[in-house]
Amino acid sequence: MSEEVTTRVQVRLTVDGTPVEQEVEPRLLLVHLLRDLLGSTEVAVGCDTSNCGACLVAVDGEVVKACNVLAVQARDSDVATLAHPELAGPAYEAAAAALPVDRLPCASCRGGAVFGVGEWVERGAPDGAAGVRRHLEGLLCRCGAYDAIVDAALEAAGTPAPARKEGGA
Ligand code: FES
Repeated sequence: MSEEVTTRVQVRLTVDGTPVEQEVEPRLLLVHLLRDLLGSTEVAVGCDTSNCGACLVAVDGEVVKACNVLAVQARDSDVATLAHPELAGPAYEAAAAALPVDRLPCASCRGGAVFGVGEWVERGAPDGAAGVRRHLEGLLCRCGAYDAIVDAALEAAGTPAPARKEGGA
């Protein structure tokens, strides 16, 4: 009977400004490298279907779902997480500043909101409130705080949030 041989791969990358090196299985997802092996618990896991967007991070400035990328694909890259979104650029710093933890009811989607909003701001904040709603279509906020996220996005982009009727959207 033959023994199963698992090849492990050495991965070097920078996470939130700190160089790290880790031996991983080739099938390991980036989100599990970050959370389970490197202790970056700011990276959230909100689903097991790659649908919620809670795990967004920036890899070399590109926003990705960390549950949709293999750790080996992030080899030699610079990863910025919710712990240091400013390392992804000023738009992400502005998004994080506009979305403090206490602006969201439970904040479990905050990583997705910060990186989603940051990406929209970095692209020039196209089409205002409607544009950011479209841009964040893949983000699931279980508390339904989409208005707060849109208002924060407009603030991050330097645009005043629209007045809303009390209790309405
Ligand atoms: Fe990655 Fe839900 S945990 S999309």
